[in-house]
Amino acid sequence: MDQITSRREGSIQILSFNRPEKMNALTREMYAGLANGLNEAAGDFGVRALIITSEDDHFTAGNDIADFLANPPTNEDSDVARFLGSLLEFPKPLIAAVKGNAVGVGTTMLLHCDVVVAGPSAKFSMPFASLGLVPEAGSSYLFPLLVGYQRAAKIFMTGESFDADSAKEMGLVASIASDPLREALEIATHISEQPPQAMINTKALLKASKHDAVAAVMKAEFELFSLALQSEEAMEAFMNFMAKKGK
Ligand code: COA
Repeated sequence: MDQITSRREGSIQILSFNRPEKMNALTREMYAGLANGLNEAAGDFGVRALIITSEDDHFTAGNDIADFLANPPTNEDSDVARFLGSLLEFPKPLIAAVKGNAVGVGTTMLLHCDVVVAGPSAKFSMPFASLGLVPEAGSSYLFPLLVGYQRAAKIFMTGESFDADSAKEMGLVASIASDPLREALEIATHISEQPPQAMINTKALLKASKHDAVAAVMKAEFELFSLALQSEEAMEAFMNFMAKKGK
């Protein structure tokens, strides 16, 4: 069974995390599947909007920690870097439907989406520093821009989580719905009925002023992240997680 499923509803492509037994924690193969799915949808004239969502009760528990240990991403050709690049460059409307835990990249990827719909159960966190790591996906730039420096610093430095209401108040999510995928499909359908080139141009304009800065920040984050992955602080945090899970 694919751990990233891809299906089409009309002109809407839906990519879904499908590894519920590990709370949809993302492996190298899953990042590759996401990058390929985004790139194919970007080049397919039949696709007018893309939804990222998840099977089961949770969005994703973030990067798979066992995979961090076995296959640390250390260069810009890595699958995670490819996924983040595809996310930054995705030219069409990108909508996320989030329920349950959205940890680490599960939250930071939302900063690149055009519309995020959260279920009431959604719980967001970016515990990079608690794991001996640093923020990624451009979040060290985009998150303070969205919520203000101090609120961002507190969330990054404490690793604390926040709920759907807080995320909506911050502007990280556009709306809260009991069935976030259904709501996301309604929004995507509405968008896909609009003139497609106008959608692409509108998105390009909305993102234009930040694009180069985000790309530069992502590069700097990636360098620090790769170093941090090999640090004692990170090793200790990963080992603690694995030990707790009896691995
Ligand atoms: N990497 C690998 N496996 C993970 C994982 C991750 N990031 N997050 C969860 N899992 C696995 C657990 O090991 C468990 O599998 P197991 O039953 O085979 O041991 C399963 O997913 C369910 O997770 P569990 O921890 O039992 O659920 P919980 O409700 O008690 O806790 C979390 C949920 C998200 C708080 C907890 O799983 C967690 O802290 N995960 C790590 C999150 C993280 O640090 N991600 C990296 C960010 S950069």
